[in-house]
Amino acid sequence: MDVPLRLSRENMRRLGYRAVDEVVDHVATLRERPVGVPPDREELELLFDPDLPDGPSDAIEVMHRAVEQVRGSIVHTDHPRFLAYIPGPSTYVGAVADFIAAGLNVFAGQWLVGSGPAVIERITIDWLRKMCGFPETGGGLFVSGGTMANLIAIHAARSRGGRVADDTNLVYITRQTHSSIRKGLRFLGFGDAQLRLVDTDEHHRMDLVSLHEQIVRDRRAGLRPCCVVATAGTTSTGAVDPLDALADLCAGDDLWLHVDGAYGAAAVLSDRVGDLLKGLDRADSIALDPHKWWYQPYEVGCVLVRDETRLIDAFAMNAEYLRETRHGTAPLNYYDLGPQLTRGFRALKVWMSIKTFGLDAFRRAVDHGIALAEHAQHLLADSDRWEVVTPAQLAIITFRPRSLDRRPGDVDALTRRIAAATLKDGFVLVTTTEIHDRPVLRLCVTNPETTPRDIEESISLLERLAHEEG
Ligand SMILES: Cc1ncc(COP(=O)(O)O)c(C=O)c1O
Repeated sequence: MDVPLRLSRENMRRLGYRAVDEVVDHVATLRERPVGVPPDREELELLFDPDLPDGPSDAIEVMHRAVEQVRGSIVHTDHPRFLAYIPGPSTYVGAVADFIAAGLNVFAGQWLVGSGPAVIERITIDWLRKMCGFPETGGGLFVSGGTMANLIAIHAARSRGGRVADDTNLVYITRQTHSSIRKGLRFLGFGDAQLRLVDTDEHHRMDLVSLHEQIVRDRRAGLRPCCVVATAGTTSTGAVDPLDALADLCAGDDLWLHVDGAYGAAAVLSDRVGDLLKGLDRADSIALDPHKWWYQPYEVGCVLVRDETRLIDAFAMNAEYLRETRHGTAPLNYYDLGPQLTRGFRALKVWMSIKTFGLDAFRRAVDHGIALAEHAQHLLADSDRWEVVTPAQLAIITFRPRSLDRRPGDVDALTRRIAAATLKDGFVLVTTTEIHDRPVLRLCVTNPETTPRDIEESISLLERLAHEEG
């Protein structure tokens, strides 16, 4: 029978096996290729065929062309020398899980059609809950990424008092808070006047005295402090706000403490971070992204709450009836815990990866990133050509060229030129961030494939570029 949109079994196999070959080839040879250089838009517009086809083409040819063109036009965030932004090292197991989830076309929003996936998601979320030290009442769900996790948490925070659209609700952040929080607040209908920018200390962490004073002022003015957003691993410097002290303050003031750990909460696995994440277990909610430092293909973020019924209160359309379901035997419908009804099976990649490699492998991989950031710090600190601006924190270090005879403005211009030159060169990608309104170079090392030699060669290259650009 000639069914439209169907491939024969044989063709499905051929296409699938070929896809596996393409991906394995990509993964196996990635280190030998440049990190990538973004092409011009004009060039790309000519590269991709814009014609809308009415008839068929050979599937393998279509796929192969797409792989070639896409692979040649992206900067590889999973490359061992992609040290910019927050890198995206991924595992093959996670990629296969995405294929399986799509191949079985799992609908992970509703118990009736996706009960097994719901149980896998519940178990996987429970692993994360335990790693973060949340109590039995805790839970959460997988979402697209940190932006969505933060948005969901803040909606849960403001729904707690049942005063969702109340414009006296206030949220406390710092200048180091990720932009996704502001974006989420705007999306949720918070006005600028509901946002409080709290000062930071010399280590770029939220200042407790300023926070406390601001809360007191706001209460006196008849406003309603609602939520403090702390960051565990700021995107700029890797700084972690004083979580334990913030938890004390929030408990005393009946405030919701959300911890944006989209990048840094992954380090709960590590013994190398000491007390840095102490107090994470006392938050009301945590954003944590497996697609950042837990080696999953995009997209998978996670929002955890210490009391899962808060999500039901915030999102379920029949909350009273559902509040008891989590610990019982009743159906578990993930559409009641978040904004999506139709949702893919993101939990599968996290589940399959942890099952396959075991948690200890994840722990060693996270430790490796922290150790390499420290290695970079030693190399930079030992050289008279660089000034370390913020030390290795989690997996991030910032620095600038040391140049005693130049004015700060000239050093800043050189800093920017060095970063831009790495983009053209393609061996390593390094970007800048701003600290006290001045640019600094920044390395973020989370890829378990990155070696000490990669770091050494990358710093040598930066020295050469500094010399050429200087
Ligand atoms: C601290 C922090 N929070 C939130 C986000 C946003 O996460 P996503 O890009 O997954 O939406 C990022 C992204 O880098 C981040 O570093």
